[in-house]
Amino acid sequence: MTNLPSLCKTFEEYFKIGNIISPCDLEDAKLLEEYRHHYNAATAENAMKPVYVTPKKGVYEFGEADRIVEWAAQNGLLMVGHTLVWHGQSAPWLNMKEDGSPLTRAEAKANMEEFIKAYVGRYSGKIYSWDVINEAFIDSSGDEKYTGNWRDYIRRETDNPRAVGHWFLAYANGAGEGEHGSDYVFDAFYFARKYDPKAVLYYNEYNEEFDHKCTAIPQMVNEINEQWRNHPEYDGMPLIEGIGMQSHHNHICTNVDKIRAALESFTKTGAKISITEMDFTHGSSSEPANPLTAEQSQNLTKMYTALFNLYREFSPHIERVTFWGLNDKRSWRSWGSPLLFDSNNQPKDAFHAILNNV
Ligand code: GLA
Repeated sequence: MTNLPSLCKTFEEYFKIGNIISPCDLEDAKLLEEYRHHYNAATAENAMKPVYVTPKKGVYEFGEADRIVEWAAQNGLLMVGHTLVWHGQSAPWLNMKEDGSPLTRAEAKANMEEFIKAYVGRYSGKIYSWDVINEAFIDSSGDEKYTGNWRDYIRRETDNPRAVGHWFLAYANGAGEGEHGSDYVFDAFYFARKYDPKAVLYYNEYNEEFDHKCTAIPQMVNEINEQWRNHPEYDGMPLIEGIGMQSHHNHICTNVDKIRAALESFTKTGAKISITEMDFTHGSSSEPANPLTAEQSQNLTKMYTALFNLYREFSPHIERVTFWGLNDKRSWRSWGSPLLFDSNNQPKDAFHAILNNV
């Protein structure tokens, strides 16, 4: 695989090219050689999520994160911290009592600061950028028209236990006049800046091109940055500096024009952009598309080509394009053959097409 043209060298003048890494990968010399050949940025697939880093209050298990951060530094890779404040794979003690009911706003805020101080402080100077908040917005805006206020779309109570916004619920518990559950957004970025003033702070989201998110995300970024400009500790930098577009695409609803519209709307905030978790599936988990048919393969090539053309067009704003997996066999959505390398780790037509197009 190292005899192929390198992805990151090919796109060097446009943006970094990243991928994910797990602690067990660090034992695999061949994998690491291929990794360094193609990628110059790294995100931990799971090891740096809160539930693994701090399983209980007062307990921090940094061993695996340390190994990944160290490996990235030794190999000159840009290290991305993923992630601090999220409803999934979070550490329950941060915002919930043992019975699952929300802590108070004051308790959750104190825990957030303790966690970010311990975690972000530990790697200060070693992490290029943090995904400070992941997936804060609800999936669907419902049928009504957009209310005009991003705070109305922040996750909170919902029937799906895996989608509940626990940070919102805790921040709403004890909120006084003029306070709101969504105030955790400012605090998360504020603490991240406080404990690593140099890291680039990102907001990361999926289906980011859907209408309500496409409108709400830039509103949130502008409002939080305005709030920061009026803060006594304002340091001359925007507090939310980057918007991460996860880009878990699929053959049914991915629409390149909508992604262009999202890029246009996000870049107007002045934020940097990263494509943070790119993959593109065909089929579905009940109707797998692995391997792809000739037609699906052509479509994959067409879509990757269109998306990379778009990214190059917006490259003055785009810092990084990170794939979520090294090849289809290792992908979390293996059934949909979503990556540039197939289940035998062979490059697909899509790989050659995006390189030949540069
Ligand atoms: C989200 C998260 C990632 C990962 C994927 C699924 O996109 O941000 O960390 O968990 O889901 O694997």
